[in-house]
Amino acid sequence: MPTITWFEIAEVPPGPIIFLQSEQQMSYVLMKTLESSPSRYDRGINLITLGRMSEVYDRLASHIKNGWNVIDIGCGTGAMALRAARHGARVVGIDVNPQMLEIASKRLQEMRLSGSVELREQGVAELSSEPTAQYDAATCSLVFSELTEDERVYTLLELRRLLKPGGLLLIASETIPSRFFRRLLYWLVRIPLVMLTYVLTQTSTSAVKNLPAMVGEAGFIVEEIRYSWLGDLTELVCRNPKSREKKR
Ligand SMILES: C[S@@+](CC[C@H](N)C(=O)[O-])C[C@H]1O[C@@H](n2cnc3c(N)ncnc32)[C@H](O)[C@@H]1O
Repeated sequence: MPTITWFEIAEVPPGPIIFLQSEQQMSYVLMKTLESSPSRYDRGINLITLGRMSEVYDRLASHIKNGWNVIDIGCGTGAMALRAARHGARVVGIDVNPQMLEIASKRLQEMRLSGSVELREQGVAELSSEPTAQYDAATCSLVFSELTEDERVYTLLELRRLLKPGGLLLIASETIPSRFFRRLLYWLVRIPLVMLTYVLTQTSTSAVKNLPAMVGEAGFIVEEIRYSWLGDLTELVCRNPKSREKKR
């Protein structure tokens, strides 16, 4: 796979990158409502995405190899962590929400995968205490939209440090569609859902504007991009460059 930097993605027709279309997804802003009731989170995510998040998790996890060390950022109820463990990885799952972690722990026990996954109540801000170049892959699904802009940049830079040279970053994130009419449709659907979510949880999510550019700016090489039909979910397969130097 050729190496491509983020500005090339923005300016050059998408030759060597794999651009794939997937079916339309529903608004992810409702996941905040689901998080306020973690026991219903998995069923709820399944419902609002019509089961398609499961396909997203499977697709991202398919890149993980037996024996790898993996960190799952914002692991929630363990969707990615358990898949990575099924692929034979040793996983560290971090999350700030203890209720989500409790459900992840039960799920892993039921699947007899507890031995492969260490769950930690830890926020992304604490990543700086981790040793450098210890992970073969990092996963981060539906988390970026819950972080501030500064936290996103910080997390990406920390992940560059924590991943081994050549390591993989696998992301799925709520994003703002780039095409005008899809963006219009997106806001028409999203605004009432944001209001509903805010009334129920006093929180919301903030979809990411240009995820491939942001990840590229942190120095990752974006190898695969997959957009949902509406453009409100983006999946990325990114590689930490072999040299520690930032690609520009
Ligand atoms: C929508 S859930 C996604 C959970 C899981 N990755 C998935 O795909 O189902 C977002 C998760 O990110 C966690 N989170 C939010 N802010 C965080 C932070 N600063 N550090 C670590 N985890 C965070 C939340 O507690 C929540 O469990």
